Amino acid sequence: MLNMVASVDGATTVQGLSSQLGGAEDRQVFRTLRGLADMILVGAGTVRAEGYRPPRTPDGSLASARAKAGQPVRPRLVVVSARLDLDPAAPLFTERLLEDPPPLIATARSAPADRRDALAAVADLIDLGGTRVDLTGLLATLRDFGARTVLCEGGPHLNHQLLAAGLVDELCLTISPNLVGGSGTAGPGLLAGGAFAVPSGLRLDRVLAHDDFLFCRYLVV
Ligand SMILES: NC(=O)c1ccc[n+]([C@@H]2O[C@H](COP(=O)([O-])OP(=O)(O)OC[C@H]3O[C@@H](n4cnc5c(N)ncnc54)[C@H](OP(=O)(O)O)[C@@H]3O)[C@@H](O)[C@H]2O)c1
Repeated sequence: MLNMVASVDGATTVQGLSSQLGGAEDRQVFRTLRGLADMILVGAGTVRAEGYRPPRTPDGSLASARAKAGQPVRPRLVVVSARLDLDPAAPLFTERLLEDPPPLIATARSAPADRRDALAAVADLIDLGGTRVDLTGLLATLRDFGARTVLCEGGPHLNHQLLAAGLVDELCLTISPNLVGGSGTAGPGLLAGGAFAVPSGLRLDRVLAHDDFLFCRYLVV
């Protein structure tokens, strides 16, 4: 699954962050989708920009559904990074509950050795490519680790590659009642990368409207 929030004019950030686009219900959708996931996949650019922290424990019915399905109490975070420009002292690594496995970092063999050494103490690193992570190989590896539902939370560069490789089944898109304007501050749309040879078709599975927000679930066809 891929989950994103965008303004009506397609921006995914305001001044480099997505927070101004969201609202209470969007955060609820965000938490609910996390509660369904075995693993949360995210690009290093988003981790750096949004200051990622360890996933929280899903509450209520989600927690019991997870227990019943044999899922881990909390989803595991998987960060994709070639350069490994991630701070090992960041909350993402230091605030993890000790009973949880450390975050996974999917990286490439070209990653700098000193960065690799610094992060090896706080994360599990896996090499999946020479200079870039092979995302098809990554999804297969996550499946081998037991993940059945992988939720990608962006950003646009990672989204584009996943869609281009045919690795996305479902897109959950919150359309935020805002017009952002200005290519400088708005940043990329949902996807950052070249045009697909053939547009990726979507089927609108359901749509909810609340407080001027639209919550759309599309299936990739
Ligand atoms: N509106 C929303 O819902 C939403 C959601 C998420 C993010 N965002 C926004 O999007 C922006 C960040 O998005 P972004 O597109 O710039 O970054 P991104 O997709 O989150 O991350 C890009 C980085 O991920 C790593 N990466 C991606 N694919 C890789 C591959 N195949 N192999 C190796 N490394 C790979 C690289 O990290 P290294 O540079 O470390 O090698 C690359 O620089 C932020 O401003 C964030 O606020 C918005």
